[in-house]
Amino acid sequence: MSVKEIFETMDYGPAPESAAEALTWLVDQGARFGHFIDGSFTEPGTLFDSRNPATGEVLASLTQATQDDVDSAVAAARQAQPGWEDIGGAARARFMYALARLLQKHARLLAVLETLDNGKPIRESRDIDVPLAVRHFYYHAGSAQLMDSEMDGRAAMGVCAQIVPWNFPLLMLAWKVAPALAMGNTVVLKPAEWTSLSALLFADLCRQAGLPDGVVNIVTGDGAVGEMLVRADVDKIAFTGSTEVGRAIRTATAGSGKALTLELGGKSPYIVFEDADLDSAVEGLVDAIWLNQGQVCCAGSRLLVQEGIAERFYAKLRARMDTLRIGNPLDKCIDVGAIIDPEHRQRIARMIGSEGDIHQTLPCPEGCYFPPTLITGLSSAHPLMQDEIFGPVLVAATFRTPQEAVQLANDTRYGLAASIWSENINTALDIAPKLAAGVVWINGSNMFDAAVPFGGLRESGFGREGGPEGLAAYTRPVRTREPLTPIAPFAGSNADPQPVDRTAKLYIGGKQVRPDGGHASGIYDAEGRLIGQAPIASRKDIRNAAEAARGASGWANAPAHTRAQVLYYIAENLHARADAFATLSDRLTGMARGADEVSLAVDRLFTAAAWADKYDGRIAQAPLRGAALVMRQPCGVIGALCPDEAPLLGLVSVMAPAIAMGNRVVLVASQPFPLAALEFSHILEGSDVPGGVVNILTGPHADLAPTLAQHMDIDAVWSFSGADVSQPIEQGAAGSLKRSWVNDGRARDWWGPEGTGPEFLEQATECKSVWIPWGA
Ligand code: NAI
Repeated sequence: MSVKEIFETMDYGPAPESAAEALTWLVDQGARFGHFIDGSFTEPGTLFDSRNPATGEVLASLTQATQDDVDSAVAAARQAQPGWEDIGGAARARFMYALARLLQKHARLLAVLETLDNGKPIRESRDIDVPLAVRHFYYHAGSAQLMDSEMDGRAAMGVCAQIVPWNFPLLMLAWKVAPALAMGNTVVLKPAEWTSLSALLFADLCRQAGLPDGVVNIVTGDGAVGEMLVRADVDKIAFTGSTEVGRAIRTATAGSGKALTLELGGKSPYIVFEDADLDSAVEGLVDAIWLNQGQVCCAGSRLLVQEGIAERFYAKLRARMDTLRIGNPLDKCIDVGAIIDPEHRQRIARMIGSEGDIHQTLPCPEGCYFPPTLITGLSSAHPLMQDEIFGPVLVAATFRTPQEAVQLANDTRYGLAASIWSENINTALDIAPKLAAGVVWINGSNMFDAAVPFGGLRESGFGREGGPEGLAAYTRPVRTREPLTPIAPFAGSNADPQPVDRTAKLYIGGKQVRPDGGHASGIYDAEGRLIGQAPIASRKDIRNAAEAARGASGWANAPAHTRAQVLYYIAENLHARADAFATLSDRLTGMARGADEVSLAVDRLFTAAAWADKYDGRIAQAPLRGAALVMRQPCGVIGALCPDEAPLLGLVSVMAPAIAMGNRVVLVASQPFPLAALEFSHILEGSDVPGGVVNILTGPHADLAPTLAQHMDIDAVWSFSGADVSQPIEQGAAGSLKRSWVNDGRARDWWGPEGTGPEFLEQATECKSVWIPWGA
């Protein structure tokens, strides 16, 4: 083609990146891989093929791990862990830095290998996956360096099992391995069976960095290997992948005491207001839904366009789609590469069917490719608008008002990410906090950085990766907690005459109400004398309390200053009745520490009031685009089983930080000593607490725990109960994948620093990263 002809057609010529270096590396390894365990590669075992999705060619043979392989990887990690932790943060930082440098030095090899293995355009693996993976190791070299001085009282979790998917094989490895190592953990990582090659190259780099044996272990294989790893003797599991498998892992680990973070699927809204820069918004969509062929958990796959501009926007979008270049992923001019596997390609095709108005970028090359697709004219309830397709398929609907945009955006079971497009910063910053999503991009999409937390809520999972918030998932308090000592209620008889009816009531929706079942049990003091009757709440009472809490949503939007005022007022009123509460507590518990308990409870209320307007997030510096707001938002409705041992102090210590952060609570009081909580409800009544913000129930924890955990109107569930109900709670929470915080049968010292502090605030909030726009 002559230069003149090129100018006339403005067509791109092919610009393929050479695969030679990566193919040579594979040949040098014999193109057959074992696992990386305890610092060296094992002999290959039962093999399966790893193919290039673009050509179908076999790139290498990988080993399906056996139970013995998984056991020895976990044993190696276990043995290496104390030494790795003991060398200290500064020494670990040197290794992290060495790994970052090695990744940089092998950037081209890694990028080509990733594209060969996964099918994503080389432009993406070269400019996004590898640089971001490098950035993670640099960032966490810093986290390691600062751990000893800045994270006093925190220790490594221990051995971490890490299971990653096929869509960002190296980047997901970096997101998981870098923070884990920085905090002194050792890891056993399982890459996805379709894309293990960059992880095996990373293993080689670990050797070159001189990483101590056993600190990083990599086992390959399919979901069965993942299951073995979940069952293994590990302290923490970090999983990225499908919601279905995430739910199975939550169920399998319920009650095991293993820490868990889940980064799952999504159906993220991409909201275009009529005052948006439409050309930029179209270009943003290319990133949002055609990055990595749409095989991205946070892909902007659900387009919501304001009605007045919808047709104009669709027209621009269709025109842009028709210029997308699909084909050989190694070509540097390609926008859309190959789908991961023919099986997945068929799945996408099956899902989209023929409904709606379908526009596709054609022709599409032969092979494992799928054309970029836009489907308009769908209702919000349509399965295509609700289900994750995980391919280059964008579905669209329109909205009229900002309120409707929020309502449609949140009409999903997921909550991972969202994009807002508007040239009006007032609109964008008004909408961002209202979206049910862990990440919001304003006038942008699919931006990531090690300093900015990433993760979701609802069925998109829980936990954050990135920033200091992500490190919390890789550390635990230094102090180990003692097993709980069960407390039995005092026994007695009802024989004494009752001058007046002493049946306390439940506190629901700001009112004293009788339990639905009409049952109550006698509460006795240490001498067996009746103190009063406590209602026995049932599932129906939990439902009523959750409904009341759901209705009190105004509390979440009340200014933090207002919430603080209410907490101070509760403290003042409790203080005024300190003697009565101290006497009641002493009588209930048979101890003589009621006065201290009340005084400390007042203190906890003051502390929560103090935090109400101070635990407010931060600004993260991202090299890519300036700054992101890391906001702290309430979880919503928190159900909590309060501790048995400190009937007033425990309840107040749980309630105060939760409502300070804007949550509403359904509290189940101390099981043996419930009357202090019900008496406390009278304090709440007289302290301007809006009805429904705090609801207090009494009854057997083991009976109520599963209902609390399973209830769809409860967003997070905590247990400090004297009975170990961790298993039913974690199991029940798996249904809606709500967050749970349980004591695993271990005691907490409510009288000391463990009864308060940032851990409560962190658990009481969802962290939302809002990427703010820039560019003059
Ligand atoms: P998947 O969730 O089955 O696989 C992810 C990882 O988990 C892989 O390493 C896999 O081997 C492992 N795994 C599978 N079953 C397991 C089990 N029972 N226990 C422990 N580990 C297990 O995802 P898959 O099948 O590759 O893709 C299916 C769908 O999942 C996609 O179509 C997409 O909708 C979604 N997905 C979401 C991802 C995300 O980033 N959120 C990533 C990959 C898939």
